[in-house]
Amino acid sequence: KMEAFVSELMNRMTLEEKIGQMNLPSEGDIITGLGSNTNIAAKIRKGLVGGMFNIKGVKKIKEIQKIAVEESRMKIPLLFGMDVIHGYETVFPIPLGLACTWDMKIIEESARIAAKEASADGISWTFSTMVDIARDPRWGRVSEGSGEDPYLGGQIAKAMIRGYQGKDNTFSEKFNILACVKHFALYGAGEAGRDYNTADMSHIRMYNEYFYPYKAAVEQGVASVMASFNVVDAVPAHANKWLLTDVLRTQWGFDGFTVADYGGVGEIVNHGLGNLKNVSAAALNAGLDMDMVSEGFLNTLPASIKEGNVDVAKIDQACKRVLEAKYKLGLFKDPYKFCDTKRAQKEIYTNENRAAARKTASESFVLLKNQGNILPLSKAKTIAVVGPMADTKSNMVGTWSVAAKLDQPLSLVEGLRETVGNKATVLYAKGSNLLSDKGMQKDATMFGRDIPWDNRTEDELIAEALNAASKADVIIAAMGESSEMSGESSSRTDIGIPAVQKRVLEKLLATGKPVVLVLFAGRPMTLVWEQENVPAILNVWFGGSESAKAIGDVLFGGVNPSGKLVSTFPRSVAQIPLYYNHLNTGRPASDKGFEKFRSNYMDEKNAPLYPFGFGLSYTTFQYSPITLSATEMSADGTLTASVNVKNTGVKDGAETVQLYIRDMEASISRPVKELKGFDKIFLKAGESKTVKFIITQEMLKFYNSALDFVSEPGEFQIMIGTSSNDVQTASITLK
Ligand code: IFM
Repeated sequence: KMEAFVSELMNRMTLEEKIGQMNLPSEGDIITGLGSNTNIAAKIRKGLVGGMFNIKGVKKIKEIQKIAVEESRMKIPLLFGMDVIHGYETVFPIPLGLACTWDMKIIEESARIAAKEASADGISWTFSTMVDIARDPRWGRVSEGSGEDPYLGGQIAKAMIRGYQGKDNTFSEKFNILACVKHFALYGAGEAGRDYNTADMSHIRMYNEYFYPYKAAVEQGVASVMASFNVVDAVPAHANKWLLTDVLRTQWGFDGFTVADYGGVGEIVNHGLGNLKNVSAAALNAGLDMDMVSEGFLNTLPASIKEGNVDVAKIDQACKRVLEAKYKLGLFKDPYKFCDTKRAQKEIYTNENRAAARKTASESFVLLKNQGNILPLSKAKTIAVVGPMADTKSNMVGTWSVAAKLDQPLSLVEGLRETVGNKATVLYAKGSNLLSDKGMQKDATMFGRDIPWDNRTEDELIAEALNAASKADVIIAAMGESSEMSGESSSRTDIGIPAVQKRVLEKLLATGKPVVLVLFAGRPMTLVWEQENVPAILNVWFGGSESAKAIGDVLFGGVNPSGKLVSTFPRSVAQIPLYYNHLNTGRPASDKGFEKFRSNYMDEKNAPLYPFGFGLSYTTFQYSPITLSATEMSADGTLTASVNVKNTGVKDGAETVQLYIRDMEASISRPVKELKGFDKIFLKAGESKTVKFIITQEMLKFYNSALDFVSEPGEFQIMIGTSSNDVQTASITLK
């Protein structure tokens, strides 16, 4: 049916109109790249636009859709895209935080709510999910992904796509929208953590590590794939045929459409592959279907056809893929499917959605330290909240919250005042500016948002903070990064708490009063000094619209924290890249410290500050040794590995039990451990549960030197534990 419909439609289209379907301009309500478009209405009337993005508001979208379906010759409806990354107006935690919940239901639900709100406001396509494996926290976009692990990233990608598109990809619900997995490929592997920088890696690493989550998204039926700004094997991803056609379509069977990143086609010129005409032809020939913003397709493909550099069949193919997506979405049946203005009034930023965001945020926080159980705070009568992150609303939501109303969230101080009611007093002092450099802080409509530059001297601000602290039983230091210090184009070389804030923290600690650091972070940060000196550290990332109340829930014990890190926290920038699933090397470091002729540093440990999978709770969990159903596994069999987990504390709590596997005898060197499963369980105080993992062939497989996906006989270590460096171990043999 779809085939016949699309083919009949295309028979009536001119070449220009077909190329028009492959054109995706940005209208510019929201700015997510360089430059924007003009004369849109005229282009739409001529059939030169296939979709648009960055427009907020159903009324405006409806008007534009009307031009397309009533005033253009072919009456083809437009797609309306947006970066709905972690919620729409109801904002959920940044993806890095969301991943720390390790809770696939909650993650799927967050995407469903985002799709409900976005679709109610006219959006039919989200540029999410971002699955780039990132092992360099200098890169600002670590905040947008699910961390360093392929397997976990893959599960999260699937959950998000189910949330956006629906479980069966039929788009049968009015709120199902197209998802887009990005950025294909290796965007997270840019050298030195600098955004848009060169990536270069072996194919064996691509297949075994970096490709996994993109492939998982394709298996889930993701509707679109966005190309990445970087080169892969020295060919810009936007013009990389091996990537966009051989791997994506031939090997993985992707049948949706591919889209450029913002201006990505035009940028191939900067990569040095020729002028706009040449590079647009190269991108199309490589397998790119839709051109975002550059208009290289629109303006140069007709000439390239005449010159014989592009085959009309390629244009037909790309146009067909875009039209098929519109068909699947149901836009030909009802172009105004997402333009019901009443939905927008009723279904956005609802109490129900906000309650879900609050619960999700409280599950995303990671308790990094809690010396002497100073948390949860129960008896404090006067609380001093100090720091530049204490009194900001817009910075609660984090980067890529383009649809959020930034004055809506409660600030931390407001949220805590609501939490404690009349049971305690919450005092506030700013303590310091966000950064020591006024230019920098301001420049960033960017960095500061609603944290205005304070003209008082550093000493004056500290004096005010110490005065508040002197009246308090406990001090909450609300410090770290602001929203825009991570995200796109926000790479940093120093990933510690800015020095001007840290000086205040030192003074607060010197008062001798209990200090809790509530850390705002869009990336793993270097916190060695904080870990040594601050009694309690709660990493809250950027929790979204309901962040402030969620922080109150955790600080005062309404919620027992259960978040676990999905990205290694290095001790120092110099250790980067640092990740748990590394190879062993021939000269692994010794447990005893530095040794000559080993792979170690003279002046720093190899170990991270906080490992992957780590996160504390207000209770404690004890693991039994592993019980195996058998120690040998046949080539087509499975076996079961189980542990008993006991809540040994006095509080109920959730624990994420993690399964890691290491191949001890393979034809290539395999990582010291790889996550292969996890189970988040809830245990009442004193309760215990047996957690079982079925070890399957699939878990033991990897891509060998010939890039065949195989399992090889021999010994495997099975590890189950509370984090990547705290596990029980057993050994099995694959026959
Ligand atoms: O979707 C984004 C992408 O992740 C980065 N560049 C801009 C795009 C569209 O806003």
